Amino acid sequence: LTSERFGVRRLPFARVGDRDVAFFERVLPGRVVTDPEELKPFNVDWLQSVRGCSQLMLKPQTTAEVSQILRYCYERNLAVNPQGGNTGLVGGSVPVFDEIILSTALMNQIISFDKVSGILVCQAGCILEKLNEYVEEQGFVMPLDLGAKGSCHIGGNVATNAGGLRLLRYGSLRGTVLGLEVVLADGSALDCLASLRKDNTGYDLKQLFIGSEGTLGVITAVSILCPQKPKAVNLAFLGCQSFTKVLETFTTCRAMLGEILSAYEFMDEKCMELVERHLKLSSPVTGSPFYVLIETSGSNSTHDEEKLNSFLEQAMTSGLATDGTVATDDKKIKALWSLRERITEALTHDGYVYKYDISLPVGKLYDLVTDTRARLGPRAKNVVGYGHLGDGNLHLNITAESYSHSLLEAIEPFVYEWTARCNGSISAEHGLGFKKKQFIAYSKAKEAVLLMQRFKAMLDPKGILNPYKMLPSGS
Ligand code: FAD
Ligand code: MLT
Ligand code: ZN
Repeated sequence: LTSERFGVRRLPFARVGDRDVAFFERVLPGRVVTDPEELKPFNVDWLQSVRGCSQLMLKPQTTAEVSQILRYCYERNLAVNPQGGNTGLVGGSVPVFDEIILSTALMNQIISFDKVSGILVCQAGCILEKLNEYVEEQGFVMPLDLGAKGSCHIGGNVATNAGGLRLLRYGSLRGTVLGLEVVLADGSALDCLASLRKDNTGYDLKQLFIGSEGTLGVITAVSILCPQKPKAVNLAFLGCQSFTKVLETFTTCRAMLGEILSAYEFMDEKCMELVERHLKLSSPVTGSPFYVLIETSGSNSTHDEEKLNSFLEQAMTSGLATDGTVATDDKKIKALWSLRERITEALTHDGYVYKYDISLPVGKLYDLVTDTRARLGPRAKNVVGYGHLGDGNLHLNITAESYSHSLLEAIEPFVYEWTARCNGSISAEHGLGFKKKQFIAYSKAKEAVLLMQRFKAMLDPKGILNPYKMLPSGS
């Protein structure tokens, strides 16, 4: 159990009893889970690194039901863990002890879609990939995309302020989410579900809930702005001989591709080894220490291909890239994206994964990988680096045969101190959840953390929403 491994003490919340279960059965007939076998996967996170022991999962379908649940839990002092697709990577999505799991799995209805503005309004439990398919049929795309799209919920994406593979082009959810409906800890529903591009009337309250990781309220519905589906998508996958070349290639491609550049991702040769070994994928480009994936999205395929080709010619003749391939058809594009998107999955086949998600000045991005590798030596099985280079976001991952406390101590706080020295962020996009919450001070001023704690106390005075997560304990 997480609580045993990390020495956390249970806070004095009430414990779920028969009368509570009977109450929930009345409110949610047939949608109350108490079977321990059925509960197992919802108590363990995607990385299989943290585990709680909840004995109760609730599956509301409406905002009114979420209100009823929280009003009751607030009265009874029962702790609640909001859960979407359970793909979170920082241990925030599963209980630490016996918190009630409030799942959005059945809140999966699309409320409206405006074909002129591209504004989608839907319930929080809609699966990202399903939403993307739905809006694609109408000529739009979701403004975010990530490897977990097949299972993550839009509510979970908003709760973590997920970044992903399209952030470079469409910006963060802080810009594309136009409105939210949220149920607060005491059960009151807050309707901020506006569908307006511009709305400067008062404080922008929805921003408080974006990235709040289930600690301030339960997001029940989302209004989000979808961009036009690009008519032409092209991909280039290149091999670079050094990280300096990766950076130079980025500068060149920004200058030459301009407005059609939609992704710039990188991975090192270790990542490539792992996706090939564990997932049996094969890359048409081999033998380089670094690989970059460049995507263009535009409205005119001839124009885009011309631009991409002249960029590639420049990249190859000036020695920025030594090998490469281009894809214009869907099948090859998907296959190339898999090499990058499925690194996360390949890592889990390599052993226990220590996962870090860091923002750094882009020039220093890979130094952290090199330094960590040197520091850990043979104690680590693999130390790899990949990520959203265009956003200054490194994913540093370390694998070992199994979890070891002494290896963890060799990594932390080393990685956080290194990051703080560069004024980076110890959580670029995954959040703090359970695993990173004690380290918030490496990236945020004391006053900022205190103010966060005051917001928490104001919105959730009994602390029943996702306790033990995001904010440091013991202060
Ligand atoms: P969960 O994992 O269920 O929950 C995550 C957090 O949000 C928890 O704290 C939970 O309590 C809270 N929460 C969930 N739903 C609600 C709600 N309705 N109201 C309030 N709180 C809620 N992240 C990125 O940023 N970029 C990536 O590129 C990326 N790629 C990924 C690739 C893979 C293969 C995987 C497994 C994960 C990836 N992630 C990525 C992590 C990312 O945080 C999640 O995939 C996603 O955003 C979480 O959505 P979810 O529905 O699974 O939420
Ligand atoms: C990614 O960019 O692949 C995701 O954030 C997941 C990860 O960091 O492994
Ligand atoms: Zn990422």
